Amino acid sequence: MAVDEGKLNDFMGRFVGDLGATLSAPLVLIGDRLGLYKGLADGGPQTAAELAARTGTDERYILEWLSNQAAGGYVEYDAGDDTFYVTEEQAFCLADQTSPAYLPGGMQVALSVCLDIENTERAFRTGASIGWHEHDHNLFEGTERFFRPGYVGNLVSAWIPALEGVEEKLAAGAKVADIGCGHGASTVLLAEAYPNSTFVGFDYHQASIDVARKRAAEAGVSDRVSFEVARAQDYPGTDYDLVAFFDCLHDMADPEGAIAHVRQSLAADGTWLLVEPQAAETRAESIASPVGRVFYGASTQICTPAGRDGAPGAALGAQVPEATWRDLVTANGFTHFRRATETPFNRVFEARP
Ligand SMILES: C[S@@+](CC[C@H](N)C(=O)[O-])C[C@H]1O[C@@H](n2cnc3c(N)ncnc32)[C@H](O)[C@@H]1O
Repeated sequence: MAVDEGKLNDFMGRFVGDLGATLSAPLVLIGDRLGLYKGLADGGPQTAAELAARTGTDERYILEWLSNQAAGGYVEYDAGDDTFYVTEEQAFCLADQTSPAYLPGGMQVALSVCLDIENTERAFRTGASIGWHEHDHNLFEGTERFFRPGYVGNLVSAWIPALEGVEEKLAAGAKVADIGCGHGASTVLLAEAYPNSTFVGFDYHQASIDVARKRAAEAGVSDRVSFEVARAQDYPGTDYDLVAFFDCLHDMADPEGAIAHVRQSLAADGTWLLVEPQAAETRAESIASPVGRVFYGASTQICTPAGRDGAPGAALGAQVPEATWRDLVTANGFTHFRRATETPFNRVFEARP
């Protein structure tokens, strides 16, 4: 077979870009952890020496880091006076942890799957599961830091209002359960927005629940939020006005057991808020989508192995078509199911008994 030189060059160009991005992933986290992006955002155009002094870091390393970041388009370089700076947009995504577009948490998730490669390779051979709790700890913190900005930007302003009658109930005082809550980012944001309501976050992962309790205390909402270790398939409590699942049902080995349990834990007029990754209706469309590669990367190394945890293991993966959710939800006790709203990363479903 003859190799087409143009196509070969195109492919190699793509690979080199990916290789550069992969080698830069730890450097994004280092920039985040050492406050390098923030130092650039706060200080304006500056030399490597100035950024090193501002951040208490080593000038030689900073010069190399800045050059890598500029080559990747994460910071800008002015060759005239040998200074580096960030644009408003770069700062919005990289320097401001409170921004709804803050991105470095995503790189922390990417780092965690690199650190877990031995386990993942073994699972490919054996078909074994990898439970959420078996991953490198960077996954837990990275997920919180990657997802929280999306919740800050959408949860209270768009997702809750998209549900029928839920905002009013939360404002008046409702009983809410947040299932698979992880570090509790969504639970705490809801508790801050609706002080008359009471919230309980459940997750089967003890270490995540410990962090969630700390987050509630730091936010000063422990009076109305509690966190407990429990599985989605048998968490305690009944008559919840709202049960929420943020980006976790597809990770569960027994999603149908979880759905059936939500149904019996809800009040008769209660609502189930199901947030799931954005996905197309067919594999071909998901593959072609701009975020398909990210989702399938996470799905292969995190969601699919988690879904196989325990027998029989549904392993839905992260790209579940809406039609599949509709079938699963309506087959397990719900009569009402609709897509209430969406973002480029998430679909937000509303279900009622
Ligand atoms: C992708 S994380 C999402 C965490 C959190 N909802 C968020 O948005 O930041 C999935 C979470 O589901 C939890 N999980 C997985 N299977 C579970 C189960 N059967 N019962 C309860 N939690 C579960 C994991 O421990 C993990 O915290």
